[in-house]
Amino acid sequence: MSYPFQIKSFDEYQAAYKRSVDDPEGFWGDVASSFYWRKKWDKVLEWNFKEPNIKWFQGGRLNITENCLDRHLETSGNKPAIIWEPNDPEDRHRVLTYRELYNKVVQFANVLKNNGVKKGDRVCIYMGMVPELAIAVLACARLGAIHSVIFGGFSAQSIADRLQDAQAEYIVTSDGAFRGNKDVPLKSVIDDALVQCHFVKRVIVLTRTRTPVSMIKGRDVWWEDEVKFVETMGNPDCPAEEMDAEDPLFILYTSGSTGKPKGVVHTVGGYMVYTTYSFVNVFQYNPGDIHFCTADIGWITGHSYIVYAPLCAGATSLIFEGIPTWPDAGRFWKIVDKYRVNILYTAPTAIRSLMGFGLGPVQQADLSSLKVLGSVGEPINEEAWHWFDDNIGKNRCPIVDTWWQTENGGILISNLAGVTKAKPGWATLPLPGIQPVLMDENGKEIEGPNVGGNLCVKFPWPGMLRTTYGDHERMRTNYFATYDDMYFTGDGSYRDEDGNYRITGRVDDVLNVSGHRIGTAEVENAINMHAGVVESAVVGYPHEVKGQGIYAYVVYTSAHGDESLTRKDIAQTVARIIGPIAKPDKIQFVSGLPKTRSGKIMRRILRKIAEGELDNVGDISTLLDPQVVDEIKRGRLA
Ligand code: WT7
Repeated sequence: MSYPFQIKSFDEYQAAYKRSVDDPEGFWGDVASSFYWRKKWDKVLEWNFKEPNIKWFQGGRLNITENCLDRHLETSGNKPAIIWEPNDPEDRHRVLTYRELYNKVVQFANVLKNNGVKKGDRVCIYMGMVPELAIAVLACARLGAIHSVIFGGFSAQSIADRLQDAQAEYIVTSDGAFRGNKDVPLKSVIDDALVQCHFVKRVIVLTRTRTPVSMIKGRDVWWEDEVKFVETMGNPDCPAEEMDAEDPLFILYTSGSTGKPKGVVHTVGGYMVYTTYSFVNVFQYNPGDIHFCTADIGWITGHSYIVYAPLCAGATSLIFEGIPTWPDAGRFWKIVDKYRVNILYTAPTAIRSLMGFGLGPVQQADLSSLKVLGSVGEPINEEAWHWFDDNIGKNRCPIVDTWWQTENGGILISNLAGVTKAKPGWATLPLPGIQPVLMDENGKEIEGPNVGGNLCVKFPWPGMLRTTYGDHERMRTNYFATYDDMYFTGDGSYRDEDGNYRITGRVDDVLNVSGHRIGTAEVENAINMHAGVVESAVVGYPHEVKGQGIYAYVVYTSAHGDESLTRKDIAQTVARIIGPIAKPDKIQFVSGLPKTRSGKIMRRILRKIAEGELDNVGDISTLLDPQVVDEIKRGRLA
């Protein structure tokens, strides 16, 4: 396969960028032309950021799986589509060619169909990192059903909230998932969630860990039995549902600064075009390359850069079931060696944690196959950048620092490997089609070089979210109400004299813990579920490995009893309500929280204290009870 839209030089980047601004419809129309459409679009773009209303490739008809699978069969049917490395390195790995993947996807699409799934239905997928997760995702897309993948670390309560929000009647899960030396009992978590979700009609359960599970008659069925059953039906084909370019492809829940997680909706046509375009350009993917993205498919990075974009590009995508530190901290490097990986796309938190194990594990592996390294999820500090560059890339692989968000579908700001210049700690330049702007507090654009401000995007791109599921107004207030006619990212950024961007992190009440987005309000709500808690306030603080750690100030009913037990208990409550990723790192018991006279918690002060900047908390004279600040300072947990 060749990619007519692949940018090969800095001049070509500049030309593409210029055209994407001067003639966006011509530019994206050309990119979209190299995909397979049943019917071409009538209009490339219609938009306004007021309602907002964003439509790309209107009137276009397609199915994304025909682009991911069918169109590769003739020329690349025997090429590996997916390489799967199991959790246990002693177990057998799997390779699925495009033909084999196609067969499994149509087969499972028939299973879904047989169980009643139709176009537009919501299907929740809660699985570990096995090929069947990708197969389930693609089978939904084949039928035009809307998948909602939930990361395997989320709790029963988080699942129930998402199922209710999406009114998802179908679930695909597995008995359990292997992660390092753990065996996560996924089906039993689903059972707990479904106590609150009687509208769920069917649960399809894959066998993976052989953990005992209870199957409810009439509701739960085994994946393997269902596959056998459709095989007996004869017809192995499953025609792809013809979708409108603007039909929803999936929902993915993500945290904001207020309320419960919101269901970000991506649509078929624009998402396909944008993610594939970004994949081929940022990583400079060439046919035959082995691409290893270490994210979980439960996050947007996995959706876009393990499943959809690589498969649309006819690439070979590696799925790893386990974790970077099991059986030892050399696991990533051994995988690179074993499969001769060419592109390694991972996260700063993983790099920092592996740095801690020294060079021993790195030196045991042959990393000479690597051509491109990538980073995503949070700002990468220079120390981690250089360690990655020196010891993994051996100073001969470009590192792409890719900035984007769940809402964006694909990478928005990044250097293009070997084509545009890297700058350690900087995401650098916007991709063609992306028009970033920096805004000040008063809604004015900050122009020129060497400035900082709130990062917005002033023109739509095909991969952007279209709505928040079931609540379009939430999309407007969250992203389009802060600044007129702008998409507001929630991030702060600098811009240098060459137009490079350095993302400094969230400017709202959203934390980024090990590259995972967590709302402070969500964590507070979970803490407040603990019977002894009166109220709480949660802030982030710099954490060596996680990027940000979670610091909780808790007002507790009684000072008696064992504090460390109570802390554990509160952390357990958060794990139960949200999931282990949201557990506070530090819990400080306080007698009260600093509040304004109108009752608003002054997080600014709490943030400063958590960061250890005790002399720099700013003006506290407007507080209801200024003494509480001294008490909190004295009790600060280092
Ligand atoms: C937030 C989005 C889609 C990527 C995975 C996380 C932060 C992401 C970078 C980067 C600095 C980054 C931002 C953003 N972020 N990548 N390369 N440099 N910050 O997706 O969970 O939607 O989180 O992650 O703060 O807003 P997400």
